[in-house]
Amino acid sequence: MQILFLGPPGAGKGTQCQRLSAHLKLPHLSSGDLLREAVAKGTEAGAKAKSFMDKGALVPDEVLINMFRDRLQESDCAKGFILDGFPRTVPQAEALDALLADLKKPLNTVVDLQVDEALLKERVLGRRTCGNKTCNAVYHIKFNPPKKENICDLCAGELTQRKDDTPEVFLKRMDAYEATKPLVPYYKKQGHLRTIDGDQTPDKVFADILKVVQVHA
Ligand code: AP5
Repeated sequence: MQILFLGPPGAGKGTQCQRLSAHLKLPHLSSGDLLREAVAKGTEAGAKAKSFMDKGALVPDEVLINMFRDRLQESDCAKGFILDGFPRTVPQAEALDALLADLKKPLNTVVDLQVDEALLKERVLGRRTCGNKTCNAVYHIKFNPPKKENICDLCAGELTQRKDDTPEVFLKRMDAYEATKPLVPYYKKQGHLRTIDGDQTPDKVFADILKVVQVHA
């Protein structure tokens, strides 16, 4: 099964994709996580991406397209995958369509997670992420705090704040999100788009996602 998530910064894409990945036993491919890993490892893609990410701008399309072309052909993707944050522009979506056609893995569902803009800033600024790169669990200091301050419940890793989770960069990321909006009519036309209200408890959001994913499996 191939599932794709759209939504603004802080909508809960990562939170829900991690749960869905565990439930469906499919890999969660987050463009943000892959780019942060590339930056941390100092790869060529990471070097190209860093300055754009630091200022909340979109990384050039070809960096993402090349990264996902390689990643989608890895063995853990054989039974499907959950895409989080890629594609984010129409050229990326067109490249993904071509790639999925080559791989004979058509999309089943595109989940568009929507949250009132006024709530997104608080979500992003209060986010804490497990620094252990094999875990990447997501918390929130108010909405989803860890049991022990700054320590991951799952792996006891130290929680960190993302470098781009500042008020200034958040505003730039919201501006960059405008480039993603044409993907809504793009996937509506293909018949894949399902809009989910992300302004509910994480459990309720997950239940709504499972319903649409199961219907379109
Ligand atoms: P990326 O890492 O993808 O950032 P983003 O899209 O801005 O999304 P976020 O990770 O901020 O939000 P999320 O929706 O995953 O929310 P989360 O679940 O964490 O991308 C980073 C950068 O990489 C971009 O700015 C760009 O530079 C570059 N990039 C990435 N992809 C690209 C592409 N395709 N093309 C070009 N450039 C690209 O939740 C947020 C917080 O809210 C958490 O604290 C969580 O605990 C809390 N929360 C979640 N759900 C709920 C709920 N229901 N109620 C209350 N709180 C909740």
